[in-house]
Amino acid sequence: EEVWMIVPAAGSGVRMGLPHPKQFHHLEGKPLLAWTLDVLHGLDFLNGVVVVVPPPFLEWAEGLLDDVKPPCPARVTAGGRERQDSVRNGLDVLPSSCRWVCIHDGVRPFASPDLFRRTLEAARETGAAVCACPAVDTVKLVRNGRVEKTLDRRRVWLAQTPQVFRRDILLTAYERAAKEGLQATDDAALVEELGMAVAVVEGERTNVKITTPEDLRWAWQHLKDTAR
Ligand code: C5P
Repeated sequence: EEVWMIVPAAGSGVRMGLPHPKQFHHLEGKPLLAWTLDVLHGLDFLNGVVVVVPPPFLEWAEGLLDDVKPPCPARVTAGGRERQDSVRNGLDVLPSSCRWVCIHDGVRPFASPDLFRRTLEAARETGAAVCACPAVDTVKLVRNGRVEKTLDRRRVWLAQTPQVFRRDILLTAYERAAKEGLQATDDAALVEELGMAVAVVEGERTNVKITTPEDLRWAWQHLKDTAR
């Protein structure tokens, strides 16, 4: 059963305050996205990868893949307005032989191969799996500057990627989202809307989504510390 990865990397990176999207920011002379794609070399179960980038970066991404040399077939496609639109475009270019879809943010360069393996394994049991870390801070729902509700911290988990889905389930979730105008910030949320079980595997605290200039500085330091 073929496993393909979709790497959404078509965000605009407004929170980074940089002139170009964060996934293209260089870290030790290499774009963040290339650091993320390096993980492909540690994943022997992978049959292919689809990288989703902003339309003006299509050619650039082809060049990047020449440098990264993924150990599996690789395709590049253009992203959309929201992350959800970008993943949808990625789904559209998967080959019909693909049975499992692993989605991993282009700005999470430090997820370990083991995390991908564990998430895929969990998905094979339920049809869908996400990795997540237990919250350290207490999470409050806020409206108009006032706390509306405090969540029970023991049950709050912060979702990361990779997230792995049986392809038909994910397609159904995306079709339903399109029909009903559902918006979500991760893929699992759309599958949850179907009422399907989504397994949770323990994520990694170093699997940070590099979002702000502080994250970028942390990433630089983390690279030094781990001598990657
Ligand atoms: O928006 P957020 O920071 O959650 O982005 C997570 C990932 O989704 C990033 O890798 C980003 O490049 C990607 N993304 C995308 N298309 C968008 C918005 C975000 O591929 N329209």
